[in-house]
Amino acid sequence: MEHKGFSNYPWIFVSLVTFVAHSTCGDVSYSIPEEMKHGSVLGNIAKDLGLDVNTLSARKARIDAAGNNRRYCDVNLRTGELTVNERIDREELCSEKPSCFLKFELVLERPLELHRFTLQIEDINDNAPFFPKNLIRLELRESADKGARFRVNEARDADIGQNSVKSYALQRNEYFTLSVNSNANGRKNVELILDKELDREQQEEVTIILTASDGGIPPRSGTVAIHVTVLDANDNAPVFSQDIYEASLPENAPLDTLVLTVTATDVDEGPNGEVTYEFSHLSNNARSAFSLDKVSGEMRVIGPIDFEEDSKYEILVEGKDSFGLSSDTKVIIDIVDVNDNAPVIFIKSLNNPIPENVPPGTEVGIINVQDVDSEKNGQVRCLIRHDVPFQLLSSITNYYSLVTTAELDREVLSDYNITITATDQGSPALSSSKVLQFSVADVNDNPPVFEQQTYSSYVNENNKPGSSLCSVTARDPDWRQNGTVIYSLLPGEMNGIPMSNFVSINGDTGVIHAVRPFDYEQFKSFKVQVMARDNGSPPLSSNVTVRVLLSDVNDNLPQILYPTPDGNTFMTEMVPKAVQANSLVSKVIAVDADSGQNAWLSYHIVKSTDPGLFTIGVYSGEIRAQRDISESDVMKQTLVVSVRDNGQPPLSATCTVNLLISDNLAEVPELKDMASGEGNSKLTTYLIIALVSVSTFFLTFIIIILSVRFCYRRKPRMLFDGALAIPSAYLPPNYADVDGTGTLRSVYNYDAYLTTGSRTSDFKFARSYNDGTLPADLTLKKSTLDRRDDLLDIPDSLQVIFTNFCW
Ligand SMILES: *[C@@H]1O[C@H](CO)[C@@H](O)[C@H](O)[C@H]1NC(C)=O
Ligand SMILES: *[C@@H]1O[C@H](CO)[C@@H](O)[C@H](O)[C@H]1NC(C)=O
Ligand SMILES: *[C@@H]1O[C@H](CO)[C@@H](O)[C@H](O)[C@H]1NC(C)=O
Repeated sequence: MEHKGFSNYPWIFVSLVTFVAHSTCGDVSYSIPEEMKHGSVLGNIAKDLGLDVNTLSARKARIDAAGNNRRYCDVNLRTGELTVNERIDREELCSEKPSCFLKFELVLERPLELHRFTLQIEDINDNAPFFPKNLIRLELRESADKGARFRVNEARDADIGQNSVKSYALQRNEYFTLSVNSNANGRKNVELILDKELDREQQEEVTIILTASDGGIPPRSGTVAIHVTVLDANDNAPVFSQDIYEASLPENAPLDTLVLTVTATDVDEGPNGEVTYEFSHLSNNARSAFSLDKVSGEMRVIGPIDFEEDSKYEILVEGKDSFGLSSDTKVIIDIVDVNDNAPVIFIKSLNNPIPENVPPGTEVGIINVQDVDSEKNGQVRCLIRHDVPFQLLSSITNYYSLVTTAELDREVLSDYNITITATDQGSPALSSSKVLQFSVADVNDNPPVFEQQTYSSYVNENNKPGSSLCSVTARDPDWRQNGTVIYSLLPGEMNGIPMSNFVSINGDTGVIHAVRPFDYEQFKSFKVQVMARDNGSPPLSSNVTVRVLLSDVNDNLPQILYPTPDGNTFMTEMVPKAVQANSLVSKVIAVDADSGQNAWLSYHIVKSTDPGLFTIGVYSGEIRAQRDISESDVMKQTLVVSVRDNGQPPLSATCTVNLLISDNLAEVPELKDMASGEGNSKLTTYLIIALVSVSTFFLTFIIIILSVRFCYRRKPRMLFDGALAIPSAYLPPNYADVDGTGTLRSVYNYDAYLTTGSRTSDFKFARSYNDGTLPADLTLKKSTLDRRDDLLDIPDSLQVIFTNFCW
C-alpha cells in the first residue's frame, strides 16, 4: 500500500479519531486513526486495566505483538500510557478490509499477568484515486460508429469507504462522453462513448483527461490522460494529381528518358495510403516502349520510339493502394516527328541502254521518292547534277521522269552515271542518292575514216610478187561490227588490165600486196582506189586513193646504138687526113632504158691503137682528134669504147669504133676485104645510112643556119652546138620520157626528146653540153617544169624548127 506522502498530514484529523477503550472482560480496545505520529498517546492502558502504574516498571510490563513481529505501539512504564511506536498504515495492514484490527498483549511479570487489547485502525483519506497508468492509449479506427464504447480501466483508491473513488469526470471534448456504471460485483465500468465520428484525416489524435475523485473530505482526485489515436480506415482511394497527363516526346528519344511522372495521393495512412502505379491498359507498342515505376510513378522510355509507327500513345495508368482501392488516369504521349528518315529513291523503270540516236527529250526512266517522315521532314526534292545531258521532270508528286536534254553520242561518252539526290526539307535535311548507270547503245553513225587523205607507196621495180607495198588504216569509232572495218579494192584498170592483177589488199589489215613484179620501164606509177567499209547494216564506207610510185632499178645495160655493138669491124668511120685538133670525128651513141642515174651514161676509151690521138667526151660520146693528124699516123685506128651507166652497181657495154684515116676509100685495102666478106651487104647498108645521116645532118645544119639568120634579132646567141640528129629508128620505143614526178631529174639528163605520133617523123632534138656549160637558169627551169612546159620553154627559134619538122 502506498502512502502517498501523507506523513505531514495535519493532525486536526487525528483529533477527530474517536478513542474508545473497551475494558470489558479484561479486553481493552482502542480505535485509532492510521498514520499517527510516533510517540502519540493512544490511551492509558494501565489505568484502563486497573493496574498500578508504579508497578509497571517493576513487573517489566511489555507489549507483545501477538503473532506479529512488529511493535506498532509501546507502553510508557512510568505513566502507563500506550504510545505509537511505529507508523501504522491501515492500507498496508488491512488493505481493503472494511475493518482493521491489530491485536496486542500486555505482559506483566511477578506475577504473570496477560492482558489483551486491540487497536482498531480507522481509515483516513490519505490516498488519492489513481489510474493504473498515467497515460491511457486508445487506438480507435476512424471507421468506428457513433455510440461505440471504449472501456477505460477504472481508477483505484487505496482508501476505503467514503475515501475510495466516488466519481469520474471527463474533460470536455468533441468526440467522447463518459459513462460510468457500477456492475454487479460493485466495480465500476468506465467507458468512453463516441459521440462524434472520428476522421483521421481531420484529426489524428485526441487527448482528453479523465479525472477520478474520491469521497473523502476533502476529496482527493487522480487523473489520467487518454490519448486517442485515430487509426486509419482505408476509406480513400488514391487520387491522381491530373485527370489527364500529357507529354510530348521526340521520337528516337534515348532509352531511360523520363517521359513524365504520374502522381496519385491517397490521404489514407500507412499501407492504406501507399499508392502503387501500374498500366491498366496499353497497346503492345506502348508496352514495349514505356515503363512505369510502380512506386515513383515515373514513366520512362524502354524501347524505340518511332513516330512513323505510332505518333500518339494513350495509356491508362492505375493508382492503387495496398488494400485495393484504386483510380486511374489517362496519359497521352504525343510523339514529335524528328527528321530521322532519309528519302528513299525507287527506280520504277529504266530504259537501258539508250540508243545514241534518241532525240532530246526522250524519257529514259521513272523515279519515285518516298520519305516516311511527316510534313516538311517528308517533303522531298530530287535533283541530278547539271553536267549530264539529262534532267528530272516532276509530273506527279514524288514521281520524276528522267529525260535526255541533248543528243547522246556513244563515241564521245558511252556510259553515264547519273547521281540522283533526294533531299527532304527537314532541318537538318536528310538526303540520299542513287546512281543510275546508263550505257549508250551504238548506232552505226560513223563511216570508217582513213588516217590519211591519200596514201603513197614507193617501191622499187622488180619487186617480189606478194611483197607488201603499204598499208592503209581506217578507223571507225562505232561499236563491234558497226566499227569493224573491211578493206577492199575498188574495181579499176590500168592499160586495160584489171587492177586486181597488179595489187591485192588484205581485207582485215589493209595491207596492200603486189601481185606481180612491176616494171618501171613499163609504168612509173599507178593509182588504186581502196574502200573501207564497216560491217553495220546498212554499212558505211569511205574511199581513199593509194598511189604506187615505182623507183627505177638499174636493170638495163646501156644500149649502144652506134656503132652497132656486135663487134663487126665493117663499120668504119672515115677520118680525113686533114682533120685538125679538136675536130669531131665520130660519136658513140648509146641509150639506157633505165632512168636517172641509171641512165646517165659515161663514155671511156678503154683501148686504142694510138692512145694519144683521139679522146672521147665523157658524157657526150663524141670522139675528137686530140691533135692534127699527120702522115705518120697509122691509117687504121681502132678504139674500144666502154659505155657505163651511173647506177649502183653500174652496168656497162663496150663497142669498137674503127676509124680509117684516109681521104680516099680506095686507099683502104682492107675495105675490099671487108666488102667481100659476109658483112658486105651490111656495110653497104651502113654506108647508105651514114650517107643519109651525113646529108640529113648537113641539111639540118643548113636549115638551122637559115633559121638562125632569119631570127637573128630575136635570138642573139647560139643556142647549141654540136647537136646531133639521130635517126629515130635507133631510138627504143617510149624512150622519150622525162619522169613526170620529177624524182629522177639530173642535170646530166637534159636531152629533150620529142616524139610525135608519126614514126616517120620521130625526131630527137638533143642538146649536148660540155661539162659545166649548162646555163644555171635553164637547169632551174627544167627542174621545176613538166614535160609539156619543158617544150614550151624551148626558145622561139627552136619552135620554128619544130613547127617545120615535127608537127
Ligand atoms: C560509273 O560507275 C561505274 C561503277 O562505279 C564505274 O566503273 C564507271 O567508270 C563509272 N562511269 C563513269 C562514266 O563515271
Ligand atoms: C550497230 O548499229 C545498229 C543501228 O545502226 C544497231 O541496231 C546495232 O545494235 C549496232 N550494233 C552493235 C553491236 O551495237
Ligand atoms: C567509193 O567508191 C565507190 C565506187 O566508185 C562508190 O560507189 C562509193 O559511193 C564511194 N564512196 C564514197 C564514200 O565516196
